[in-house]
Amino acid sequence: MRGYLVAGNWKMNGSTAASAELVDRIIAGAPASELVELLVCPPFPYISQVADKLGGSKVRLGAQNVSEHESGAFTGETAGSMLRELGCEYVIVGHSERRALMGETSLIVALKFQAAQQAGMTPILCVGETLEQREAGQTEAVIDEQLQAVLELAGIEAFNSAVIAYEPVWAIGTGMTATPEQAQDVHRHIRATLESLHESVAEGVKILYGGSVKGDNAGGLFSNPDIDGGLIGGASLKSTDFLAIAQAAVELV
Ligand code: 13P
Repeated sequence: MRGYLVAGNWKMNGSTAASAELVDRIIAGAPASELVELLVCPPFPYISQVADKLGGSKVRLGAQNVSEHESGAFTGETAGSMLRELGCEYVIVGHSERRALMGETSLIVALKFQAAQQAGMTPILCVGETLEQREAGQTEAVIDEQLQAVLELAGIEAFNSAVIAYEPVWAIGTGMTATPEQAQDVHRHIRATLESLHESVAEGVKILYGGSVKGDNAGGLFSNPDIDGGLIGGASLKSTDFLAIAQAAVELV
C-alpha cells in the first residue's frame, strides 16, 4: 500500500499572521492515519516560521522551488541545502506556472529534480498538458517529454525517492477538475512508462493529481488505483478545505 500524500502548494499567498494561523489549524486537525501524509509548501519567507510550528507534528514541510545550482553567485535563488537545513523534506519542481511564466525548460526542471535529491529532499515533479495540447491529442506526448528529461538525467532509480504530480494546466485554478477517468488514464500512462523501465520503482512511486481538487471531488479522484493523493492550490489556503481533502483520503485507507 503506497498510502496517500495530500500536499498544499500555498503559491505566493499569505502573510506572517496568515501562515501561522493556517499551519496551526492544519496541525490541530491533521488525521492520525499512518497512511495519509500531509505536507505544506509555504512561500520561502515563511518556511522557517512554519518549520518552528510544525516541530514534532506529523505534518511535513516542503518548498515550492529550488535552484539547480549548489551555491554561488545566483542572486535571488535558493539552494537545496538551505531548504533542507530549514527542515524541508520535499520540494516542488516543474510546476506549470514556473514552466510557463519563468521559462523553465524540461532540462532545467530535471536539474532541479537532481539538485533536490542531492540536498536530501524528495522532489515533487509536476507534469501536465495545456488545453490546446489535450485537444490536439498530445497529452501523452507532452508528459512523456517532461518525464523523459528527468529519466535521462537522473535515471529510473531516482524515482525511488520522488513523487510525481499530474497537473493538467487547464484544471489549475479554473474550477475545471479533470474527471476521475481522465486523471486515472494519465496516471496509468505515467506508471506504465516507469513500469517498462523498473517494475518495483513504478509500483512504489506516488503519483498525485493536482488541479481544482476540493473536498467534494477528492474522494472520486483518490479512489482510483493510480492516484495517490493530491497537490492542492486554492483549497490548501483554508484549513477546513484542506483537511476535508485529507479526510477523503483517510476514508479510503
Ligand atoms: P488549484 O488547486 O488552485 O487548482 O491549484 C493546483 C496547483 O497548481 C497545485 O500545485
